[in-house]
Order: sequence, then structure tokens, then C-alpha cells
Amino acid sequence: MNERQKLHAEMSRAFRGPATSLAAATVLTRRIFLHKSLLLGAAGAATYGFFPFLNVLDVAFAANAQTFRFAWISDTHLYPKDVNTRFVDKTVRAIDEVKGMSPAPDFLIFGGDLAQLGDPVELKLGAELLKELKIKQVFIPGEHDWYLDMGKTWNGMFGQSPWSFDHKGVRFVGLDTVSRAEDFWTPRKMTAKERMGHMATLDGTLGGAWAAVGKEQLKWLADAIAGWPKDQPVVVFSHNPLYEYYPPWNFWVRDWREVHEVLAPYGNVTNIHGHTHQVLYNEIGRLRSIGMLATSWPWPYAPEGVPVLTRPMVRADPGDHFDGVGWSALALNDAARVDNEYRMWRKDVFATAPADLGTGDNRNQVLSPRIADRI
Ligand SMILES: [Fe+2]
Ligand SMILES: [Fe+2]
Repeated sequence: MNERQKLHAEMSRAFRGPATSLAAATVLTRRIFLHKSLLLGAAGAATYGFFPFLNVLDVAFAANAQTFRFAWISDTHLYPKDVNTRFVDKTVRAIDEVKGMSPAPDFLIFGGDLAQLGDPVELKLGAELLKELKIKQVFIPGEHDWYLDMGKTWNGMFGQSPWSFDHKGVRFVGLDTVSRAEDFWTPRKMTAKERMGHMATLDGTLGGAWAAVGKEQLKWLADAIAGWPKDQPVVVFSHNPLYEYYPPWNFWVRDWREVHEVLAPYGNVTNIHGHTHQVLYNEIGRLRSIGMLATSWPWPYAPEGVPVLTRPMVRADPGDHFDGVGWSALALNDAARVDNEYRMWRKDVFATAPADLGTGDNRNQVLSPRIADRI
């Protein structure tokens, strides 16, 4: 074990300690604190987001839940191999690392944006790579998988969403939050490729507020958890976060209030989502949301709306395409908690300047509430 690995292991232990809530300050060992202090100055250690290699979640599970692990990979954004292989390389690395998990995870959730432009070549490439994993796999779509043929290839290859299943005392639910865009293409007589092109940008003006659960699926969700004991864990997978983070980038679902209404009676709900490509954590009422890393690239934090409970990741090195990306190993541990372990690949993990945190100035980063909340 080299110095950095030792430090990672120690930080991992610190983050995995007897945390009762992510909102509470994480206990840092003296050595980690000193290391960080040296880089930032003691005040900086308190001011700037700490290296978020690990998030520990306390989900206060019912006693009959059992220990198990599962893995999340999403946002691989695969291009055909003759266009770009770097995203293939990173997908392969994530798959290899999931394969290397010991003990093995019970299943993999793929959280959407397997393809970059919904091209069947890209989706087939993704399916081919994922075949390497012999564990159970479940899928929810991302907008990049959908808008070339409105989900036809995706549904044919990976099955329809939403779905739910029970596993060792947890009800897992997978939602489709991407297929409900308002029709901007028919009046404009767009080709399928043009439609996909507009949906493949982060702040596409024509795509508008496309992320939604939708009335029908809300009803389905209510039915899917009806009868499930209110204190038992529910884990909801969605491509987009189920709260309002930053609507211009669809870092939300537009009907998030209705979603919360449906979930409100349940005491232990964890939403695990993709699309934001960054370390992200939020709690609203009893609903926790954890944002997953992409394997493809990290998005910057939005100019506002970053949840205050988030420990921001440091800005990634643009010269290293393996930096600031990765996947997540999740576990229901024997202390009856869900742990989320970000498996982020990076060379440098500490912010050495405020700007390294990823959104420019430190005031903005720590953390600007939405305009609506400031009024
Ligand atoms: Fe994505
Ligand atoms: Fe996405």
C-alpha cells in the first residue's frame, strides 16, 4: 500500500465511522485533518468541501433487512467505437471493477445514458460490454438512450420501465424520468436525429423541462409501494434527481412535488439517481437523494441550487479523462445502514484553492440556495 492508498483507506474508515447522519459533520482523524490543513490552512478545512470519496448513509433499516451489496454504473455516453474509444475504456474499467468486488454485488443497476446519441450501434456496444458481468442487471433509461427512436431500441434490449422488485427486505423501484418531453419536434418537422441532437445538450432550449415522472407513472409508483410497510426501506432509482436542483439542466423532475407526496408516508426512502455526473447529496423530509458519478465526464456544479448537504467534489483535471468519474458500490451493511461508496478515479483528491471546488468562487459553492428559496 503506498502513501496515497493508506490515506484513502484511513479516510474511508473515517467516513464509514459511526455516522448517524450525513448532515452531521464527519469525524476526521487528526492525520487527515493535518494533511488537509497543510493544503488549505486550518480555516480552509472547515470552509471548503471535504474530499467526498465516500458517503455514508444511515437509513435506519428495519431489523429484518439483510446485508448485501449492489453496484451502480451510469452515464457511460458511449459513441460508436470508430468515433471515440475513451468512453468505452472507462466503461470497461467500471465493469472490471464491479467484477472485482468481493463479496460480489447481488445486482447491477445501470442508471441510463448508456449511449450518447441513442444510436443502436452505441446501445449494442453497451449491451456487449455489460455482458461481461454475470450478475443480475436492471436498467432505467436516460434521455440519450431515448430520443432517436423514442425508446424503441432501448425497451427492446433492456426492458421497459418502471419496474419494481423486492430483495432481502428492500423494495427497489426503477423509474423512467426521461420519456415525457413536450413534443417540440413534430411542429418543426424535425428528423429523429435532430430531435436527439436537441435532447443531447445539457441546457437545450427546445427540450425544455423534459424530465418528469408523469401522472400515469405516479399512479404506478403509488400502487408499487402500497402495502409495503411504512418503516421498511424503499430504494427508488431514477435517471434524474427527484427534487428541484437546477431545472435549466433538467437536474430535477418537473413534478417532483407530486413524487414527494406519494413517497412522504414512507420513512426510509433513498433515491439514487444519475444524470448529474457529480457527487451530490440531498435530504428533503425523509427522502434522501444520492447523485451518482458518470464514467464519461463530470459535470460542473450548477450555478445555484447545489443542496447544502452536498460535500462538493473538487474540479476534475480536464487533461485526464479518467479524473473525477467512476461508479458506485452500495451496500446494506450489517449495522443496518445503506453505504454509498463513490469509486471515483482521480489522481488528486484535495482542493488546493477555492476555485478547485468546481464552481468558481467559494461563496457560490458553499452553497447558493435557489432564487425561489431566497425570496
Ligand atoms: Fe448523462
Ligand atoms: Fe442524462
